[in-house]
Order: sequence, then structure tokens, then C-alpha cells
Amino acid sequence: MTQTYSIAVIPGDGIGPEIISVALDTLREVSRKFDFEWAFTEAPVGGAAYDLTGDPLPPETLALCQKSDSVFLGAVGGLQYDNLPNDKRPERALLGLRSGLELFANLRPAKILPQLIESSSLKREVVEGVDLMVVRELTGGIYFGQPKGISIESNGERKGFNTMVYRESEIERIAKVAFETAIKRGKRLLSVDKANVLEVSQLWREVVSRVGKDYPQVELSHMYVDNCAMQLVRWPKQFDVIVTGNLFGDILSDEASMLTGSIGMLPSASMGLGSLGMYEPVHGSAPDIAGQDKANPLAQILSGAMMLQYSLKQPEAAKAIENAVLTVLDQGYRTGDIMSPGMKQVGCKEMGALVTDAVRSS
Ligand code: IPM
Ligand code: MG
Repeated sequence: MTQTYSIAVIPGDGIGPEIISVALDTLREVSRKFDFEWAFTEAPVGGAAYDLTGDPLPPETLALCQKSDSVFLGAVGGLQYDNLPNDKRPERALLGLRSGLELFANLRPAKILPQLIESSSLKREVVEGVDLMVVRELTGGIYFGQPKGISIESNGERKGFNTMVYRESEIERIAKVAFETAIKRGKRLLSVDKANVLEVSQLWREVVSRVGKDYPQVELSHMYVDNCAMQLVRWPKQFDVIVTGNLFGDILSDEASMLTGSIGMLPSASMGLGSLGMYEPVHGSAPDIAGQDKANPLAQILSGAMMLQYSLKQPEAAKAIENAVLTVLDQGYRTGDIMSPGMKQVGCKEMGALVTDAVRSS
């Protein structure tokens, strides 16, 4: 019997619907080639869901995601939602999906493609060959820690506070994912913390080191987050896998993505203990170019490849998509964000169609 994968598709806001639409075409093509089937079900999240239901993460959407094989997400957020109360903001929905699906491990690769070296803001010799992976803890730390809030002091002054909390079990499970990831790559793992100041980081460092005893084949080292931010732009080729907490990972993964020239190129995977994952581009909803057929769909398409590799165990189909993207770049096609002199500029739809054709003829 042909294998069918049920996928919750969340177009979201801004450029989300355009990039999702072309990425689904590519996924359909690859399924024909590798002989499996998709059952895509669309669901609203973020601003789109707020407009429809008053809730950025409707319970029906979460339930659909929970019973799917994976979640394929575009982007959420938009300027018109910026003044909503916290629990109605589109970003809340992302956090709700992450915790509701227990997706505690966020994998964010940053790999420079030879075709795009000129798009990087750093010198060729610094970025050529960069290939690193940030493993970011995604359901704990200061994003979720209690207590948090804004209170009023006895003198009437307001005080805002959040708490960075990590339990040993949370550190252990993300460390395991990071070591397993390192084994499949260059076998070097760097754990990033702020152990010179924060107690939570001291525990983090101790637990990661303890887990490391089970992975003697992986070379483990530690670095403070400020130094890591500096080293990433100084000499990024020193990194293989970086594991870190939620907030540090948020910041460092944005920084790492820019080494590659365009955040529009980078996919990401959020995983839990099972095979269900959520796959989305690292970039946001880019409301300024939404609906204009200008967006770069490659991060969304490559997120589909990650889904095939990590959740659906179809590594050859994943490879076919990655190769198709490289073929199209080799042919000189570029969206505006990665455009350089002498290349052929195309819009979102055309870029998607080119990749889909390249999958078909591969
Ligand atoms: C990301 C984003 C989110 C985060 C926001 C939109 C909630 O920046 O996925 O990196 O901070 O995790
Ligand atoms: Mg971020």
C-alpha cells in the first residue's frame, strides 16, 4: 500500500500563504517521483486565526497538528497585530504550538551555498565552507519560566520580570539531541551558556558535560554566549553543532543565518521525542513584501526537505529537493533578496516552478 503522510499545513500571515503554496507544489512533485502520497489539511494560526476566530491558536488547529504526521508552517505575525494583548499576538501561537506539541528541540542549520557567497556581508574567506547547526532548546528557559509579569512596587514604580529556568531533565534531553546531531555531522559539539554569571547556566554546563560522558566519540566544548556571538562573525568555520538555551539560541541562530547571506534561504525543524515535527523557514512573515510575488520560497521548500528527512524518513526525496534548489541556483535564477549582478531575477511563483521542474526532470 502506498504510504500517505498527513500534514497540517499552516500558511499563516504575510508572505506565508505564497511561499507555502509553491512549496506544496514541489512536495507534490516529489511524492509522485518517490511514490508516496500526501494528505494536506490547512489550518489557521497567528493573525489569520485571530481575524477568523479571535484566537491566534484555535484549539481545533492544535488538535489537528497533534494528530498529524508533521506540521508545515509558513510564517506568522503582522504589523496590525503588534498592539494586541500578549495572549492574542500571533507570536503566542508559535509558542503555543511549540509547547502544545512538546517540540523542545529546534534545529537551525546555517550552511553557505557556494552560489551565494557574494550575498554574505562577510568576506569570502570568512564564510566559504561555513556549515553549522544551531540546536536551540525551544520549550523552556526564559520564554516559559515562572514567575513572570509586570507588577507595581510599593512606591508605585512598575517592575517587569521573567525567569530563566532549566530543570536537569530539560537540559538532558536537549543535550542528547545535540550529541546525536553531532554524531551525524562533524562530531564536535559546543555548548553555549553564561555560566560565569548565571546559576541556571552553571547547571546547564554541568548536565551537558555529564550527558557527554555517554558520547565519547563527540568532542564537547563550552563557550560563553557573548564570546560565541563574537566568534560567529570572526571565524564561523570553527563551529559544527552549537547547543544552547531558548533565548541565546533565538539570538545566535539569527546571527548565524546571516552568515549565509540571506535569511530567506534557511529552513528549520522543531522536534520532540517522537517523529512529529514542525517545519518552517527561519525568516518571518515579511509583511512589507506580502502579496507581491517577491518572496524567496526556498527556505520553505527546504523546510519541506527537512520534514522528509527528519520526520518522514524519506532521505532520498529530501535530497532530490535540495539538489533541485542547487540546480536552479546554478542556472542563475535568484529572487530579489539574493540577487547579484549577472543573475536572472524571478518572483516567488517562478522560483517555485523552477524548483518543481528541476525535481521532475532529475
Ligand atoms: C523565532 C522567532 C520567535 C522566537 C518569535 C516570533 C516568537 O524569533 O522563531 O526565532 O522568539 O522564538
Ligand atoms: Mg528568532
